[in-house]
Amino acid sequence: MKPTLSEIERLAREAGAILRNGYDKEHTVNYKGVIDLVTEVDHASEAFLIKEIKANFPGGHILAEESGETKGQNDDLWYVDPLDGTVNYAHHIPIFCVSIAFASRGSISLAAVYDPLRDEMYSAERGKGAQLNGKVIHASNATELQKSLLVTGFPYDTWNTKQDNFRNFEKFAKLTQGVRRLGSAALDGCYVAAGRLDGFWELSLKPWDVAGAGLIAEEAGARVTAIDGGADYISAPQSVIIAAPGIYKQMLDGLK
Ligand code: IPD
Ligand code: CA
Ligand code: CA
Repeated sequence: MKPTLSEIERLAREAGAILRNGYDKEHTVNYKGVIDLVTEVDHASEAFLIKEIKANFPGGHILAEESGETKGQNDDLWYVDPLDGTVNYAHHIPIFCVSIAFASRGSISLAAVYDPLRDEMYSAERGKGAQLNGKVIHASNATELQKSLLVTGFPYDTWNTKQDNFRNFEKFAKLTQGVRRLGSAALDGCYVAAGRLDGFWELSLKPWDVAGAGLIAEEAGARVTAIDGGADYISAPQSVIIAAPGIYKQMLDGLK
């Protein structure tokens, strides 16, 4: 059964309330890797979303960060990041969100990214534009890197991978107004969609990090591709550029 955009928004808003309610509490932190961590709130948000999706929209596959893949019977696919920005969350830094995207027959058609502390709902339906709290949003008109503010992120194994992103960071820090590192890939992409930031790139993400923000940014008029310019920014080996159209080519060239 297919959801509507407002149904996906409701799920993101209710999962966001779980994050907001837990924010001021002490967290139980478990380590998935040397740096990569998870709190009890990631699990509570994900359990809520999976239960709701199964109850209201049975039959689809669910790809969720903490529990992996739940097989379904049809060709619908849900991408669920129950808490994007979990390191921020664990440190009580108020930059995190819930990200949900829905795909049917291989094409992502609906997305909602919700920042519960600011009560900001970014959402999009393919072909119908993108909005922030119901108001239409657009990527910026930036055309020059020098006047552009970018954002990026680094992988959790940054200390032992060649894909550590440091050279790109240095290059763009010298060519632009600055490069932010906010710690939530989904919000990074949505901030480009809303024209707050001009471009975002990251070398190594997971499908649930960008499935939602990617559609929202595309619908807001941003260019969204893998860092080699390929159209598929969801499949492994995963990477993404989300950029205002006027600086996309400059970012693509800079990342070669
Ligand atoms: C992480 C955040 C971060 C990005 C990492 C992601 P998580 O997701 O989006 O900004 O740099 O690559 O894994 O672990 O907070 O859901
Ligand atoms: Ca994430
Ligand atoms: Ca997460």
